[in-house]
Amino acid sequence: EAAEKGGYSHFAIKEINEQPEALRRALLGRVHQGELRLPELDALRASGTLDNILRIVIVACGSSYHASLLAKYAIEKWTRIPVEAITASEFRYCEPIMGPDTLCVAVTQSGETLDTIVGVRQAREHGSPVIAITNVVASGITRLSDAVLYLHAGPEICVVSTKTFVNSVSVLYLLGLYLGQQNGQVQPEQMRKLLDEFERLPGQIQDILDKANAPDDIIAPLAQRMAQVRSMVFIGRGVGYPTALEGALKLKEISYIHAEGFPAGELKHGSIALLDPETPLIGIATASHVYDKIVSNIQEVRARDAHVIVVATEGDEKIKQHAHDVLYVPSALEAFSPLLATIPLQLFAYYVAVARGCNVDQPRNLAKSVTVE
Ligand code: AGP
Repeated sequence: EAAEKGGYSHFAIKEINEQPEALRRALLGRVHQGELRLPELDALRASGTLDNILRIVIVACGSSYHASLLAKYAIEKWTRIPVEAITASEFRYCEPIMGPDTLCVAVTQSGETLDTIVGVRQAREHGSPVIAITNVVASGITRLSDAVLYLHAGPEICVVSTKTFVNSVSVLYLLGLYLGQQNGQVQPEQMRKLLDEFERLPGQIQDILDKANAPDDIIAPLAQRMAQVRSMVFIGRGVGYPTALEGALKLKEISYIHAEGFPAGELKHGSIALLDPETPLIGIATASHVYDKIVSNIQEVRARDAHVIVVATEGDEKIKQHAHDVLYVPSALEAFSPLLATIPLQLFAYYVAVARGCNVDQPRNLAKSVTVE
């Protein structure tokens, strides 16, 4: 097992560090010289199925659900087709309205999550075409789907998803761009620009990791200082909101610290009552069209004497006046920023868990594939 960890103390940190390579594999053969190819969807396209899609429903659980929530923003922007992301355990019991004009996209890294599989079965029964996004070749979900987009993340041993999360978001984005290209919403020039930005991401993730692995980095010492808190709050707006949900899930499942993610604008409707000097907050405030709004939410929190940590874009010096600690990530297009902001959150959760002596790779009560209801 030590050999499989390749010199790392845990699979978790090995897999976090594998993300640049994992993402490169997801893009390999699909993005090339400003063009996007998803041959896996050619048959669906040729049959005309994709021409009649009026609505997209993404069904998933846990981190895969958070990836779906993120993708909703980008797919709607790039296709102008309404997208709903729904957690599979709710979808299967909500008498979902599906049919041939509603594309069902199932996201499950294991390909075996029972709730997602049952949801897909229902979608099929209603006549919806199904595209599966999974990491595991020939897994259960692939047998129920009209087309499969693999994550190509490589094996993920740690129960906590890291590289499969980043690749799920990325493959969903590729799907969105493909559909946008099909329905004429994404023009060739825009496509080239977006794909160029996409191809920069693995290098940008590598930059974050290199910085985090340097002896003077602040994430591990910050995690050490936060290791004994009882509860943490994560906030974001727009794509920062699902990023906050994912950051909170990472922390709670790996370190057993209670953590919740909220849309920052909702804080004043109740959750702000949770905040006190003993409840640190992480705000996602990377460059975006709602940057000023999230900064104002962070100021409100700061006024409650909470310890404030912010994930921000490199070069944003102004944010320092509103935060006790700032975790910087490289500048990226707004849609792509969560793929970078997620990395320091994963590292933070990992180092907190290590400081608490938790069973990092196999947290209590959790399984890698949830094949029961
Ligand atoms: C993620 O860290 C969790 N272990 C969990 O939420 C997971 O994402 C969920 O169970 C869904 O798994 P799947 O992607 O294999 O369907």
